[in-house]
Amino acid sequence: IVLDAFNTFGLPAVAARYQRIDDVDALVEAARDGRLGGPRLVLGGGSNVILPARVDRLVLHVALRGREVLDDTGDGVCVAAAAGESWHDFVRWTLDQGLGGLENLSLIPGTVGAAPVQNIGAYGLELAERFDHLEAVDLDRGTRVRLDAAACRFGYRDSVFKHPAGAQLLITRVVLRLPRPWAPVLGYADLARRLAAQGIAAPTPVQVSDAVIAIRREKLPDPAQLGNAGSFFKNPVVDAATAARLLAGHPGAPHYAQADGRVKLAAGWLIDQCGWKGRALGPVACHDRQALVLVNRGGASGADVARVAAAIAADVHARFGIALEPEPVFI
Ligand code: EPU
Repeated sequence: IVLDAFNTFGLPAVAARYQRIDDVDALVEAARDGRLGGPRLVLGGGSNVILPARVDRLVLHVALRGREVLDDTGDGVCVAAAAGESWHDFVRWTLDQGLGGLENLSLIPGTVGAAPVQNIGAYGLELAERFDHLEAVDLDRGTRVRLDAAACRFGYRDSVFKHPAGAQLLITRVVLRLPRPWAPVLGYADLARRLAAQGIAAPTPVQVSDAVIAIRREKLPDPAQLGNAGSFFKNPVVDAATAARLLAGHPGAPHYAQADGRVKLAAGWLIDQCGWKGRALGPVACHDRQALVLVNRGGASGADVARVAAAIAADVHARFGIALEPEPVFI
């Protein structure tokens, strides 16, 4: 089956074997019967993968649907969604129910099931901060498992699902806990500034969501118009000495102190400084409004993307001595 429409970068790819997953019981049964053995690729919205022309794996395309409001414990309300639901539609649906808490994560492409895998985060909030638990199927054993936040081992754009210990798990349902009382998360300067400029002193959850959407639309290309996978590199987290060295030469470099004493730098800024913003190499370009995003100008292959990513990382390393790590998963 052709996967071109199932990855937001719009890369041409063909899967050796393909299975649409729309029933958890059937999935458990297939796993028990040993029908899911061998190399696999769990595909949600395809917004965080770089596919090769031929995917020599069994592609499991998650299409599980359903959303619900669960218990209200006074200090929090739990909401649940099946893994195949669109993340952004789910966020807006919670807002429609009068439930704030996820608004900072508006307009992130992809599915609910993919959200914990890379611990999506934006505008001052990470999924981990709203996470209660999730349900998954162990594809090797054919069992259902439940993971709490500790078991998910969330880190910056990281979780157990990106590592061998969790690679056999297919997430089927995610339960989030929205804190009560609700308070806006306005630590991200651009967001606070935009709301202030609109004269909004005490925003509602919907107003925060709308502001996040507006900021994202200004900087980030819409995958439906220009193929991309969001941020192409993680923001590098370096030790204090490395950060001090960079800041001595570039006092204006964006930097964010971490709780452990290390410092997070802005990969987009580093790439921008190397002159890559808006620059194209064949069919792949570095986006002209946010250097952290690579885009498909049309006709790009996974190999073209890999080539440009390597060239950018090499330039940043040569200039700053800092290694960039890709954020999407290369298959
Ligand atoms: N910057 C530049 N030039 C650029 C891009 C950025 O100078 O071309 C500077 C900006 O001026 C700013 C700093 O770098 O001072 C950080 O940029 P920005 O606020 O746009 O955010 P980011 O660090 O580039 C991260 C996430 C985004 C998330 C935003 C907002 C990662 C890898 N990316 O980007 O997440 O939306 O913060 O919170 O952590 C994603 O993961 O796909 C993603 C889009």
